[in-house]
Amino acid sequence: MSKMLSVFSPTYATHIASLPPLFLLPLFTALCFFILLLMFIQWGHTNERKLPPGSMGWPYIGETLKLYTENPNSFFSNRQKRYGDIFKTHILGCPCVMISSPEAARIVLVSQAHLFKPTYPPSKERIIGPQAIIFHQGAYHLKLRKLIQASFLPSAIRGSVSKIEKIVLRFLPTWENCSINTLQEMKGYAFDVAMISVFGDNQDVQEMKKIKFWYQCLEKGYNSMPLDLPGTPFRKAIKARKLLNEALRKLIKKRRDNEKHGGGLLGALLSAKDQKLSAHNLTDSQISDNIIVVIFAAHDTTASVLTWVFKYLHDNGDVLEKVTKEQEEIQRRISRDGRCGLTWDDTRRMQLTNRVIQETLRTASILPFTFREAVEDVEFGGYLIPKGWKILPLFRSIHHSEEFFPQPEKFDPSRFEMPPRPNTYMPFGNGMHSCPGSELAKLEMLVLLHHLTTTYRLSLSLSLYVGLPLHVCLIVYI
Ligand code: HEM
Repeated sequence: MSKMLSVFSPTYATHIASLPPLFLLPLFTALCFFILLLMFIQWGHTNERKLPPGSMGWPYIGETLKLYTENPNSFFSNRQKRYGDIFKTHILGCPCVMISSPEAARIVLVSQAHLFKPTYPPSKERIIGPQAIIFHQGAYHLKLRKLIQASFLPSAIRGSVSKIEKIVLRFLPTWENCSINTLQEMKGYAFDVAMISVFGDNQDVQEMKKIKFWYQCLEKGYNSMPLDLPGTPFRKAIKARKLLNEALRKLIKKRRDNEKHGGGLLGALLSAKDQKLSAHNLTDSQISDNIIVVIFAAHDTTASVLTWVFKYLHDNGDVLEKVTKEQEEIQRRISRDGRCGLTWDDTRRMQLTNRVIQETLRTASILPFTFREAVEDVEFGGYLIPKGWKILPLFRSIHHSEEFFPQPEKFDPSRFEMPPRPNTYMPFGNGMHSCPGSELAKLEMLVLLHHLTTTYRLSLSLSLYVGLPLHVCLIVYI
């Protein structure tokens, strides 16, 4: 390449200008030929390390329109049938490689995870906060991960059962004998559980109200068009983010001034000490960004899964009956023991209910895929994934594979009587970025289902929106 450029150096240019025009034409032709040859060699080189099969669609828009106009399930499954478990496409302005084999997903998320970094649009980073765990890799990620994971291990949350139960018992009477928008109500419930997990349960009510209010304003703009213009939901979300930060900073200062730092994840993050420094390990903004991301990751997901649980219980009366029997048996045990509430051990006895949750997580696959980005050119399954390309492990396709889950469209909790084959079941992801809140999510679903099935009878009328039970009405009566 440097040789080619030297042809145009000033000395050559002067020399060429002095040549008679007759000599100029063959020289120009030779130059063009040389450039074409170089391009051909370059093209041949790319082909040698060939890209995965698939179509990149139209220039720039790629296959984005197809993804939005086709049913997303068919979009992925049609291409998988045509090209196999690894195929390329171009969506939302990015060249992407989709993968739907458990082995390939494991390589991306676990064994070669250092070659594939998490990736999100910059607008999401602005709203959540750039220092949040989900945007990082390496030492900083590891440090945060240890702290967050420790707060949500079974040993850390087993004492939360009665606190979660209190929240359930506060919500349930408000649903009695009326029709509710299930997703909205589940969001309210999961949000309150997230708040006590993050801030502990002895909180100043006014302070929590303020945080909740700004958080909800922020959330409204999260999925909006990232247009930073006056009046847009995105601009409002950015403003709410600043005010939320102020509220969190005040709370952090108050807790730092108090030797004990308080409970919940916030207490754990404040108590984190660097081995070398005896001072605070995480800055205020690192703490607020991670508090916000945990609230964000914790409540929408759990609320969606619970909504799907209701839908599947509605569609499968026999399963609902068995779940109710299991929960009534646990209730009888509680009365026999003279206890007045659930314990962690009770929740471990809810085996069928747990399988219902597992099967819901598989069938609904509420997070159908995740995004990573190749940090360098990567040789992958005989193909080249160029640096900067996105790579998407398709959890949903794996969960709906006939090979791993026979009759995949059937809701059948009994399939989880046997553990699934390794790397075929990833509702909480896999590897370094897998979900640290999976046990809390399952716990809050079990506690809610216990009280719902033992105290009430459900009558569900579904109004589906493009196959999603966004407006499920739940009529609860004693
Ligand atoms: C049923 C409910 C939930 C589902 C289905 C779910 C699913 C997931 C998945 C698939 C990932 C991995 C994303 C990736 O690899 O890119 C993840 C990450 C994460 N989840 Fe959950 N999650 C749920 C509930 C929760 C809860 C209750 C918490 C709160 C503690 C939580 C906190 C997080 C965090 C902080 C991460 C990022 C971890 C990291 O980047 O290292 N999630 N979740």
